[in-house]
Amino acid sequence: MPSAFASLRIQTENIMKFLNNIYRSIFRYGRMPEDAEGASYAVFNNLFLHIHPVKVSKHSLRFRYTFGLGVIATCLFLILTFTGVWLMFYYFPSATEAYGRMLDLRSSVDFGFVLRNVHKWAAEAMVFFVVLHMARVFFTGAYKPPREFNWVIGIVLLLLTLGLSFTGYLLPWDQLAFWAITVGTSIAGYAPIVGDPIRQFLLGSDNVGQEALVRFYVLHVVILPGLLSIFLAIHFWRIRKDGGLSHPNDNDVSVAQTKH
Ligand code: HEM
Repeated sequence: MPSAFASLRIQTENIMKFLNNIYRSIFRYGRMPEDAEGASYAVFNNLFLHIHPVKVSKHSLRFRYTFGLGVIATCLFLILTFTGVWLMFYYFPSATEAYGRMLDLRSSVDFGFVLRNVHKWAAEAMVFFVVLHMARVFFTGAYKPPREFNWVIGIVLLLLTLGLSFTGYLLPWDQLAFWAITVGTSIAGYAPIVGDPIRQFLLGSDNVGQEALVRFYVLHVVILPGLLSIFLAIHFWRIRKDGGLSHPNDNDVSVAQTKH
């Protein structure tokens, strides 16, 4: 008959084994790798490390090379998705109700004003950081072959980010939003040939009204974030296929091995 102390020890050991099994099922390679093969194995088998290619140039890991701007933009998109879905529980895209719902959110919902402000500030910050990220890519010459296709994907991401910002602007249905969208869609209407169809597509009628609100809402919560997620996946896949981030030894044979 084991003593109380011994049975406690056995139970603790079993719990530790159980937790260790769970940990091992997620992170397959536990110990610190001792050689290049172990390091590759550790990277391949870890979801988080697998973001990087097996071989990464030291240069591209320097914080001052990227300033983490692309990663910051990605985090902001995740924050916006999370707070945006949360906001959908309270918001209603109706010309008679949207403004009232927004006021209710600020005054009657617990932490509603925090939720709304986080969404609004993160949206503005995302535009800011995407533009900075683009400037970093330009000034480090990372748009040159083989990354020229990823630069084009980046332009699509920039346009989608601006589109999300523009469509989100109308949703509070306040005076600022109403007149900003009236002016914005009128400017679009002046573009030669495609101007009027674009304006009609956005507004769904001749004026900014209920149809426009529903269209901006669907674009803002489904179509644009969906497209942005797809293009972001292509953007990240392309970074891997181009051999990780750009670096001065891009044409080195040893580094080129990682490009497949
Ligand atoms: C939603 C917007 C965007 C997100 C979330 C995003 C995310 C990222 C991330 C995480 C990286 C890895 C390196 C880093 O952090 O700098 C990266 C690299 C890159 N991005 Fe973006 N990006 C976006 C928009 C853009 C834009 C607007 C451009 C250019 C027009 C662009 C072009 C590139 C290129 C060429 C690389 C490879 C850079 C290199 O090899 O040094 N991206 N992006």
